[in-house]
Amino acid sequence: MTLVKQKPIVPPTQINEIMYAMWPAQALKAATQHHLFEALDKEAKEAGEVARELKLDVRGTQLLLDAMVSLGFLSKTGDKVYKYQIAKTDVGEQARTYLIPKSPLYMGPWFAQGEELGKMWRSLPECIKSGKAVMEVNKDLQAEEIFPKLAEAIFPNSYATAKQVATLLKTDKIKTEWLVLDLAAGSAVWSIPFAEASPKVKVDALDFDAVLKVTKHFTNKFAVQDRYAFITGNWRDVQLKENTYDIVILGHILHSEGRDVSKALLKRCFDVMKPGGRLVVAEMISNDERSGPVFPLMFALNMFLATTEGCVFTESELKDLIEEAGFKKPYRLAPDHVVVIAEKP
Ligand SMILES: C[S@@+](CC[C@H](N)C(=O)[O-])C[C@H]1O[C@@H](n2cnc3c(N)ncnc32)[C@H](O)[C@@H]1O
Repeated sequence: MTLVKQKPIVPPTQINEIMYAMWPAQALKAATQHHLFEALDKEAKEAGEVARELKLDVRGTQLLLDAMVSLGFLSKTGDKVYKYQIAKTDVGEQARTYLIPKSPLYMGPWFAQGEELGKMWRSLPECIKSGKAVMEVNKDLQAEEIFPKLAEAIFPNSYATAKQVATLLKTDKIKTEWLVLDLAAGSAVWSIPFAEASPKVKVDALDFDAVLKVTKHFTNKFAVQDRYAFITGNWRDVQLKENTYDIVILGHILHSEGRDVSKALLKRCFDVMKPGGRLVVAEMISNDERSGPVFPLMFALNMFLATTEGCVFTESELKDLIEEAGFKKPYRLAPDHVVVIAEKP
């Protein structure tokens, strides 16, 4: 094949950046699986010491340690023979917080779920052709099968943000009791920070029976179980009293449901909330043109694979839906934040 002379050939930079993105992900998983970060938690060590301690191949360990330095999780000092340590940076702190098994926010289970999602994503070409999802997590039976593990695995992804939300709503300053409804609670990641912020917070956590076992595990782990009540079942069937809740949380549930069911769910939240109460919606949100950011648009494909109706709303669509349910002044916490808050007048 002859290449057209006049036109300069662009290098496949963006294509390769995307294609090679799997390598750092696999390297990070291998480092975590082999407890590299745990081995360096207390002190700096040479590659040989780490390999001996973890019973790994020395050359492979050395290469993996250097790869983790390149990604910013570790730093190294020395001359020819190096000592490695967890970097004293924000990225190093992420390794300490999320990649060491004894940490309450350890992400090992999320990495394992990532493997499951990877299997689902391999069906993307077929699904784009057929229009059929690989699974239907919006149906009760599949939800009860899939969500106990998934809800547990995603806890570390949201906890830091959920803490921010509880702080922004000044939960620690409340003078009277707040009743919070965590609807489709999963691990209760969005409500636990409210309960941690004030002993005046009580939470009703609603989810399927199989998932509530996970909810209970996390409320015990964070020592807030005495402030929780558990409501078993599908939110569509459960009867909740009107004008009851100060805060209603919808954490990563609307995207499974599609537009019409989301509308009904938001109306239900409106009815059970006290006047003056606040709605907290955590979602993947795209820009109004659906041209970015990358993650929500990839997540929309994820929902296409995993549900019959699931979707990612644009910021305007989400705010409109919230307002149509009767809430006022929906606002996003920051331009790229995952949380939208609104009030019941
Ligand atoms: C993606 S998880 C989110 C869990 C948690 N809120 C979070 O943000 O990590 C969705 C949760 O919604 C629950 N769920 C889905 N459909 C539901 C329904 N119809 N009634 C009650 N819970 C439901 C699932 O069991 C699961 O725990």
